[in-house]
Amino acid sequence: MAGPPTTTASPRRATEAAFQQCINPACAATFGVGEAHFACPRCGDLVDVVYDWDRLAVPKSLKDFEAKWSRRLDPLAASGVWRFRELLPFAPPEKVVTIGEGRTLLQKADKVGRAVGMDPGRLMLQYEGMNPSGSFKDNGMTAAFTHARMIGARRVACASTGNTSASLAVFCSATDFGFKAIIFIGSGKIAYGKLAQALDHGALTIQIVGDFDDAMRRVREVADRLGIYLMNSVNPFRLEGQKAIMYRVLEASGWEVPDWIVVPGGNLGNSSAFGKAFIELKHLGLIDRVPRLAVVNAQGARTLNELYSARELRWRSGLADSAKVDAYYGELDATGVKASTIASAIEINRPVNLKKCLRALDFCDGVVREVSDQEIMDAKSWVGAGGLGCEPASAASVAGARKLREEGVIAPSERVVCILTGHQLKDPTATVAYHGGDREQFEKVLGARGVKRAGFANRPVVVPNELDDIIRTIALYADSAAPAS
Ligand code: F0G
Repeated sequence: MAGPPTTTASPRRATEAAFQQCINPACAATFGVGEAHFACPRCGDLVDVVYDWDRLAVPKSLKDFEAKWSRRLDPLAASGVWRFRELLPFAPPEKVVTIGEGRTLLQKADKVGRAVGMDPGRLMLQYEGMNPSGSFKDNGMTAAFTHARMIGARRVACASTGNTSASLAVFCSATDFGFKAIIFIGSGKIAYGKLAQALDHGALTIQIVGDFDDAMRRVREVADRLGIYLMNSVNPFRLEGQKAIMYRVLEASGWEVPDWIVVPGGNLGNSSAFGKAFIELKHLGLIDRVPRLAVVNAQGARTLNELYSARELRWRSGLADSAKVDAYYGELDATGVKASTIASAIEINRPVNLKKCLRALDFCDGVVREVSDQEIMDAKSWVGAGGLGCEPASAASVAGARKLREEGVIAPSERVVCILTGHQLKDPTATVAYHGGDREQFEKVLGARGVKRAGFANRPVVVPNELDDIIRTIALYADSAAPAS
């Protein structure tokens, strides 16, 4: 029988209380936190940040973190990541790089909950669009930039579907530690809001012919060759910061563990980080139960769902069957299949954190689903009508929750938290195409993907510039039914 997944100290541990370790149990090589490894130098597997908790001061109860709210002028208490620094204790406080990330919101969302099929008060949205760069990535970047500063790195790089690069560019430009941003993007594969951020914040933006998976392969090669610090989520310090999203969900829930966390799956950094957070909190005795985890792929980028749900790939204590993964990637190559979805942020076929995500699914009794572009865009319109607003990839969580509700996997009375990973304004093109009256624009952006105009579209009404016509139009439309009811 498989043992519990670990992220805590192994017998071959390094001498420090915080260190790095290869997740492959047959290797389990350890490294100090003063080194940068984006893959295990011995076996090539993923690397974790690991703590010997017995040698660290950890609060006795999660409630102890609330005291920090009264110290809002202290940047480390005001950061929604570093407020919990006892749970990511790898960095000396004076090295922390923070731009005020993680001041985000867990909001009860009954209108969206109705569309999903939940009882009142049971659906919550964790709105990570409130971060400085408009997505959850800032949670991870603050931790990775802190590590980069600890080891004296200057040139920092990533491949991105847009949000990682936006966050990286913001952290470089908003701080004064000499960081230089280099970002790799695929051609035509990045939403305008995100590209605008990269350009405006002064990142060297390298656009290659290919998609995210091609850009990811290339940036790893370049980082390796030139000794550039890699900021993608293969960097284990990124995931340390992203654990804090779960700490804030617990904090905003009065430290009560929800029944479900539902998150979109792209490169699988978030789901991996969430799993690690719960493994550690349980190990430390700070929670007594764990939520179930649902990871939601877009149908056009469905690697995790195929491998987990159809081919039954499992964590198996770190010994996942890599032949199954290789076989699937071989099929993708042989058939020339590329990732393709309106949710460009998760248009990824070779998720780099696959193995860590399997660990999270194992520990959190997880499920994986895929949702169509139509389901994504409809769910996105419910989120907008419910008051928050998100980009298409984020709405995959809401569409996934509805699917699980319809299947009866989620009960209407369960407490469900959907993670809204990115802000609505990241991708105005998709939103306007869905709602807009411009047929040409609709066809180009959505029609070509098989997405139909649904009843949720809120079209602009074209009216002659005459007072009577305007008054008649208001009388006709203003009291019509709300889209998500
Ligand atoms: N949602 C948004 C808005 C994203 O930008 C991403 C990933 C995801 C979900 C998926 O998260 O990779 O942790 O599973 N965006 C990356 C990027 C890949 O380059 O910005 P994940």
